[in-house]
Amino acid sequence: MQLWQLPFTLSLLTFPWRTLADTSFSQSSDYSSGALGGGPIQTFKSSSSTPAAWNFVVPYNDSTAGQIDPGFIFMAPRGTDVKSPGALIYDKNGDLIWDGTQYGQTLLFRTATYQKDPVILLWTGAIAAYGVGSGYDLILNNKYQIVANFTADLNGTLADFHDTVITSNDTALITAYQPKTWDLSNYNIPNGWLLDSVAQEVDPSTGKASFTWIASDHVDVNSCYASPGSSGTSEDNPWDFFHINSIDKDSAGNYLISSRHCHTLYYVGPNGNVIWTIGGKNSSVTMNANTGFGWQHDARWRNNEKQISIFDNAGTSWEQDSTTSRGILLDYDAAGNSVSLSTVWLPFNQTVSESQGNVGMMDSGNTIIGWGQEPYFSEYNADGQFLYAVQFGVGDVQSYRAYSFNWTGNPTTLPSVSVETDDSSTTVYASWNGATEVVTWRLLGSTADSPQLAIPISNHSRSGFETGMTVTDTNISFTYYQVAAFNSNKKITAYSKFVASDGSSHDPAANQTIDSSSSSGSGSSSSGTLKNAIPGGLVVPVALAVLILSVH
Ligand SMILES: *[C@@H]1O[C@H](CO)[C@@H](O)[C@H](O)[C@H]1NC(C)=O
Ligand SMILES: *[C@@H]1O[C@H](CO)[C@@H](O)[C@H](O)[C@H]1NC(C)=O
Ligand SMILES: *[C@@H]1O[C@H](CO)[C@@H](O)[C@H](O)[C@H]1NC(C)=O
Ligand SMILES: *[C@@H]1O[C@H](CO)[C@@H](O)[C@H](O)[C@H]1NC(C)=O
Ligand SMILES: *[C@@H]1O[C@H](CO)[C@@H](O)[C@H](O)[C@H]1NC(C)=O
Ligand SMILES: *[C@@H]1O[C@H](CO)[C@@H](O)[C@H](O)[C@H]1NC(C)=O
Ligand SMILES: *[C@@H]1O[C@H](CO)[C@@H](O)[C@H](O)[C@H]1NC(C)=O
Ligand SMILES: *[C@@H]1O[C@H](CO)[C@@H](O)[C@H](O)[C@H]1NC(C)=O
Ligand SMILES: *[C@@H]1O[C@H](CO)[C@@H](O)[C@H](O)[C@H]1NC(C)=O
Ligand SMILES: *[C@@H]1O[C@H](CO)[C@@H](O)[C@H](O)[C@H]1NC(C)=O
Repeated sequence: MQLWQLPFTLSLLTFPWRTLADTSFSQSSDYSSGALGGGPIQTFKSSSSTPAAWNFVVPYNDSTAGQIDPGFIFMAPRGTDVKSPGALIYDKNGDLIWDGTQYGQTLLFRTATYQKDPVILLWTGAIAAYGVGSGYDLILNNKYQIVANFTADLNGTLADFHDTVITSNDTALITAYQPKTWDLSNYNIPNGWLLDSVAQEVDPSTGKASFTWIASDHVDVNSCYASPGSSGTSEDNPWDFFHINSIDKDSAGNYLISSRHCHTLYYVGPNGNVIWTIGGKNSSVTMNANTGFGWQHDARWRNNEKQISIFDNAGTSWEQDSTTSRGILLDYDAAGNSVSLSTVWLPFNQTVSESQGNVGMMDSGNTIIGWGQEPYFSEYNADGQFLYAVQFGVGDVQSYRAYSFNWTGNPTTLPSVSVETDDSSTTVYASWNGATEVVTWRLLGSTADSPQLAIPISNHSRSGFETGMTVTDTNISFTYYQVAAFNSNKKITAYSKFVASDGSSHDPAANQTIDSSSSSGSGSSSSGTLKNAIPGGLVVPVALAVLILSVH
């Protein structure tokens, strides 16, 4: 990959281990001032991927590095300053793991468990001008193959992107939006149109719904906070009175539905009746000090349904109700019919995020907060203490959510190779989109006379998304180069094509077969390289060295 700032090269020479500076910026004023553009990207030789480059606005240090959750970051940058919008997985250094932008711009992107397997959940489809989606939810297995493709069961209305949850029964909780005619004469709007919100539970394998909840059947459209304004006038400009943006289900079989425009969580029974509400103009649950929220996202049951986490935007594009958005964790006291504040997660630099955002609580106890419309995420330890913050754009760059998940990916594609030669040397670049298990690349060469007779040249530790390998002096004049991927068990899991510097290529040799048991993974989950590859204590001097070099 290209280094963005040459001084980093010097620091890399000084320190032989990999650092976040190799890929990402650290407290770069060039980045945060916009001098590098609204959406700085990484580029590669062996791949056309252009993922957002990160800037650690608050880097981790010796006391925080060891506390970071080992998972990979899942996010989906979009916006006019994003070169290639869509799903991306990164390690915690900001190195790309998987580029899923072939599915286009998305909002919902996370892992889940489906039919006992770890999977990726990814929405794909069209985004309407009024900010809701019409498309399909994909379930991808750990080979990145589509195992399910489903949508709403609503007479042709397709699934929206605001939420999808796979339940422990392998059903999916989804959101959908339906424009419909509505009497809006009380707002002086003739021939009015309402954008109704729908929550459904569907079976991804059959597409059939077992539960459908239509907001206007249960909530007075005039009881919320977003008046029609200039909307409500046509099917293409309907009034979004409710704005569903999350759905969860508890062990009792009831649903927790978040309405942004009603500032309310609705707890709904299987027959659709509202059992209780939290928030809004008429909360049925008593809300103790500092539990109020508005324009919120991502309401989830936590801790055996004793707590609820919420991303409290505290504002929207037309109003700010507080000085900052925040993540909150509420204790829910069912017997006392009340909620009280347990934890608050604040951004490193307090600001209101007008839209989007999430509270990504992880099994490790850590939490990632995605700041939605603001292109930042930050991580907190189990005590709620702030660990670090990353900026992934400056201009119009946003990610609906950001998560940290363990993930093992074994793609069925071949590794990708690019060969660069100049007068004095040849460098071979290798990457393999989505492969999490490569530890070492073996470089092989072949001659024009025997284009498929692979001769091992050297071994190279995998270094980030793309590893550059300089060809050492040999007495053989190689025309083609190839790489083989070794996993941690020293098994070869893939051979690339043979590639020449002019780009011409040959398939791998017929006898270069892979033992499929070696690539299927052990069932263990891979995670970020931070704890595994970088001695925790050594992060500090490097991060500081980079910091000094990059502040202008
Ligand atoms: C999902 O299914 C829909 C409907 O059949 C289809 O149009 C779409 O191309 C599918 N998506 C993918 C990624 O295969
Ligand atoms: C689908 O359309 C049928 C016929 O118009 C109607 O009876 C039914 O209620 C509709 N279902 C939903 C979920 O909208
Ligand atoms: C799973 O199915 C069982 C049996 O139908 C039901 O009791 C339970 O509530 C369901 N759980 C979820 C999360 O849907
Ligand atoms: C407030 O909610 C209660 C139920 O919790 C309901 O009985 C009452 O009518 C509501 N009041 C208003 C003004 O909507
Ligand atoms: C923090 O926020 C203030 C006010 O919005 C802004 O001027 C400043 O640049 C921000 N600092 C960083 C490091 O983003
Ligand atoms: C490490 O980072 C955390 C979070 O920003 C900060 O609170 C702490 O003071 C830092 N510690 C040192 C030694 O710099
Ligand atoms: C290359 O050839 C020279 C002369 O035959 C020999 O001395 C040298 O060891 C060879 N080097 C390699 C890497 O094979
Ligand atoms: C390359 O790595 C493989 C797997 O660990 C090993 O068997 C082989 O000897 C190594 N080759 C060199 C030249 O180090
Ligand atoms: C493939 O066949 C060639 C020529 O017989 C041999 O040199 C090479 O070692 C073989 N490679 C593998 C991976 O078996
Ligand atoms: C994630 O991976 C780490 C090891 O890297 C492991 O300790 C942890 O238990 C895993 N978490 C989950 C939820 O599987």
